[in-house]
Amino acid sequence: MIVRATTTPGLEDVAVEEGTRLLVESGFSVSASYGRLSEIVGTAGGDSPNDETLEVSHIGWRVDGLPCGYPPFAAVADSRLRRGARSIYHLAVHVGELDWSGDLDSLVDSALRIDYPELAEVARRGGSFRATCRRCGTHAFQSPDVERAVGGLLHDRYGCAVDLERPDLNVAVDVVGQTAMVGYQLSGRKGMDRRHAWRFHPRITLRTPVAYGMLRLAGYTMHPGPLMDPFCGAGTILLEAGGVAKDIGAPVPALRASDREPSAVSGTIDNLSAAGLPADVAEIDVHELKAHVAAGSLDYVITDPPFGVRLGRKIDYHFLYQSLLAGAAHGLRAGGRLALLVDHRRGVFDAVAAGFGAFELVHTRRVTIGTLSPQLIVMRRA
Ligand SMILES: C[S@@+](CC[C@H](N)C(=O)[O-])C[C@H]1O[C@@H](n2cnc3c(N)ncnc32)[C@H](O)[C@@H]1O
Repeated sequence: MIVRATTTPGLEDVAVEEGTRLLVESGFSVSASYGRLSEIVGTAGGDSPNDETLEVSHIGWRVDGLPCGYPPFAAVADSRLRRGARSIYHLAVHVGELDWSGDLDSLVDSALRIDYPELAEVARRGGSFRATCRRCGTHAFQSPDVERAVGGLLHDRYGCAVDLERPDLNVAVDVVGQTAMVGYQLSGRKGMDRRHAWRFHPRITLRTPVAYGMLRLAGYTMHPGPLMDPFCGAGTILLEAGGVAKDIGAPVPALRASDREPSAVSGTIDNLSAAGLPADVAEIDVHELKAHVAAGSLDYVITDPPFGVRLGRKIDYHFLYQSLLAGAAHGLRAGGRLALLVDHRRGVFDAVAAGFGAFELVHTRRVTIGTLSPQLIVMRRA
């Protein structure tokens, strides 16, 4: 049986690793893992013709001897993977790949050529189901068209009651470019990344799996230590950092945050206090950062500075990153790690990667966040 999940493009290895660990900790035997959609469904590509618009990657695990339980796949729904994964958005048990020609009718026909014994079992026990669809790419139909058609025909075939809010089984059709798959979705409509009780959540808030990926690649998830985010926004990186320390039973280290916007400062305080995390949050312009951090007091500076079109074109990025690196170089102990996102298009990347003399480049990779593809950089304080 294949359990599949969606994650941030560029962080597939992080999600595969985390998922494997959580499945094994839940008592499952994982015989293979898949870091790409094409590895799961076996098609040649699995890429969309306009895949720059894709926001998620599909990954998966082959799990042996999986007990089905009731509702179907209750064991996976109760697993640490479903309850504790930080790197994934949605989770499903893979049912099959669809053989279709790009239009709605052939998609629905193909979905209906599959047998759904678990749906028959739910109907027999008087349970309920719903059909959902997630779609990436350009198609002549919308997700609700798929949901209505597949849901209606499965209802006719199995006689199972429909419950759109709390179904016992969610038949999910994932359409990614020319590839389409059916699965039993185990995550809710909202996605597993919406895990915090956000009191303040502006549009530019970093997605939690990206924050987790930054913490993982910087080494924090193995060795939590004093951490600061000087562009904290809503405090996502600190929320994840506090959660990761709690996950592994480590004491929550000193967590510091700052931002130049008063609303971000008060919002981060609210979000951290809702999560039961001690908050040391201050209003600081990054150009003044160095004066506000004690020398060598931090193990990690992990941050998501403004980049890309969403945050204005007038910013002097070179100056901004220079101030960030000067403050981080001062606050980090020798060997401490700086992880950040940099827009590769603005010519700042080379200057940052050079570390302005104080850092060595440890790791760099491209990640996709919505329509932007910044470079995730990890550097070590020399
Ligand atoms: C991309 S957002 C950070 C989002 C944050 N990671 C989150 O999850 O909510 C960038 C943040 O940098 C802040 N910012 C922009 N210029 C700044 C500066 N010169 N000094 C300090 N903060 C700044 C903005 O107010 C904004 O909150």
